[in-house]
Amino acid sequence: MTSHDGPSRYGHLDCNSPIAAWRFDRQVAECASFAPETILDIGCGWGELLQRVAERVPGARAVGVDSDVELLERGRAGAARRGIADRVEFVEYRGEAWTEPADLVVCIGAAHAFGTGPEAVAALAELVKPGGRLLFGDAVWAREPSEADLARMWPETSAADWVSLPDLVDAAVEAGLRPLRVESVEQSEWDDFESEFLADKEFWLQANPRHERAAEVREAADAHRAWWLRGHRGVLGFAYLTLGRAVALAVWARPGPGGGPGLRRLLPRVRQRAARTHRAMKRTCSAVRMPRGVAGFPARGTPRLAAE
Ligand SMILES: C[S@@+](CC[C@H](N)C(=O)[O-])C[C@H]1O[C@@H](n2cnc3c(N)ncnc32)[C@H](O)[C@@H]1O
Repeated sequence: MTSHDGPSRYGHLDCNSPIAAWRFDRQVAECASFAPETILDIGCGWGELLQRVAERVPGARAVGVDSDVELLERGRAGAARRGIADRVEFVEYRGEAWTEPADLVVCIGAAHAFGTGPEAVAALAELVKPGGRLLFGDAVWAREPSEADLARMWPETSAADWVSLPDLVDAAVEAGLRPLRVESVEQSEWDDFESEFLADKEFWLQANPRHERAAEVREAADAHRAWWLRGHRGVLGFAYLTLGRAVALAVWARPGPGGGPGLRRLLPRVRQRAARTHRAMKRTCSAVRMPRGVAGFPARGTPRLAAE
């Protein structure tokens, strides 16, 4: 985990977002349980969740998209180790430009590629196939940040960078998705994440206190620790939303233009008319002698509509 050249990168993290092992396991199980045929992870990093879900759904095809080639390489190595490299692809691409939809869309900690959380959810909803799901993870304000709070966080942090949990869920509903599960992490999950993020630097500094890069690495670690412990800790939460998109409605069942009654509402009238036509045709048929062996109009019953 430590090298003489410098600290490792994400060497102590299983995945690059705040999440406890039990929560991660449950997300993997829930994603796998609806047996998606296609999986897309935008801003996947090394795609730990993507790989774990693909591993549990035989035959599922998965694509992880990220802009960081080093992380994508770690993802490819993981997929090869798990024996799923033939159906799990890691692609260097701008997530916000991806257009191919999937049954399961994942985007965790990468909403900034689209803008704000609500903007990301709206864009990602377009990529979820009917009947599919979006697993979305993003930071949310645990409480409204004061100017003093903001000043202690990363440079240029603004109140507009994130929304509250209820506002994020409302944005998902507005985007046409329904919340199947809403969860927000405990403080200990944030603390574990930040500790493991900093562990690359801290373990390296422990082993290389007089290295020529030690001062620079120590300064970066101290700054990050201050943004966490004096800055976002207790102010910024992190939420995971499992969002469902309704199955596709048959053409006859869709709402009419402007949200008015669709064909479903017209169905009784359509049935009445069909029955009238049927009776009229029966009268005509009974007046006409059919040649032997030629099937006539059914003697009984109203013709059933294919859509019933
Ligand atoms: C906080 S990490 C989360 C990684 C992963 N989803 C996870 O939970 O382990 C955010 C990821 O988004 C990627 N990213 C940021 N902007 C991106 C963009 N415009 N297109 C694709 N990936 C992007 C980063 O390279 C990084 O791997």
